[in-house]
Amino acid sequence: MSQPVISLRDVSVRLNNHTVLEDVSFDVESPSFITIVGPNGAGKTTLIKLLLGMIKPVKGSVKVLGMDPFKESERLRSLVGYVPQRDRVSYETPLRVWEVVLMGVFLKKRFPRTISSSDLESARIALEYLGMSEYWEYFFNELSGGQQRRVLIARALASDPVLLLLDEVFSGLDSESQQYLLNVFRMLRDRNRTILIVEHEVDPIMELTEKILVLNKTVCAYGDPNEVLSEDKLKPIYPCLKMIEKEGRRIFILGDKHA
Ligand SMILES: Nc1ncnc2c1ncn2[C@@H]1O[C@H](COP(=O)(O)OP(=O)(O)OP(=O)(O)O)[C@@H](O)[C@H]1O
Ligand SMILES: [Mg+2]
Repeated sequence: MSQPVISLRDVSVRLNNHTVLEDVSFDVESPSFITIVGPNGAGKTTLIKLLLGMIKPVKGSVKVLGMDPFKESERLRSLVGYVPQRDRVSYETPLRVWEVVLMGVFLKKRFPRTISSSDLESARIALEYLGMSEYWEYFFNELSGGQQRRVLIARALASDPVLLLLDEVFSGLDSESQQYLLNVFRMLRDRNRTILIVEHEVDPIMELTEKILVLNKTVCAYGDPNEVLSEDKLKPIYPCLKMIEKEGRRIFILGDKHA
């Protein structure tokens, strides 16, 4: 059997003398689409940073693609795409859209780093997937927040990552951009890539979600969406939980997101 994509055992993280993650254990056995939900401050972003080797656990073991992210950070990052949870990224030097996207390829190369015509082609294709080709020559800093987000997703895609980590990239986008992104997700699924996405609303990405992980400092529930999305599993961590019926489906309004 091939190695799990992600494997965490009893992982705890302390930041500033506070326990932010405690005894977190879960496995992602094979390529899949995992949605992580949890209230503000639950440790979702911290978990993603842990998977990237940006944070060291005080306890437990973390394996991503068979590697210890903290010890093999550089090798791991050449295989992982990451789009952080931020509204705007500004660069001190004004960069054009194509330069931002190429960074995704360039920074993952070994020295001496050079840009080939196939790198440019990868950047072009990635922008096309996000419907952003026409912005190739634009300055990144002049784009709207949603357009910047699409470019940053293209940057993460350009190196064709095995694992894509996305921190609240979906819900802030308009519906056309969301459609582009859903198509990207479908394409990646067909290529057996793993996507781990943090979102406050599961419903818009429900059709792709194979497993849901409910995090609140520790793993509260993890598994098939139909099992996890139940009132008794969610109510303890979402006191404002509401359930509505739409077109015969149950939709949970978790009642926790960003302003
Ligand atoms: N660098 C840091 N130093 C100290 N505490 C931190 C640091 N980063 C995060 N924290 C704390 O860790 C906890 C978890 O933060 P995290 O950003 O992982 O939450 P989150 O689940 O992503 O929340 P949100 O939904 O608001 O994005 C919070 O209490 C936060 O204040
Ligand atoms: Mg976060």
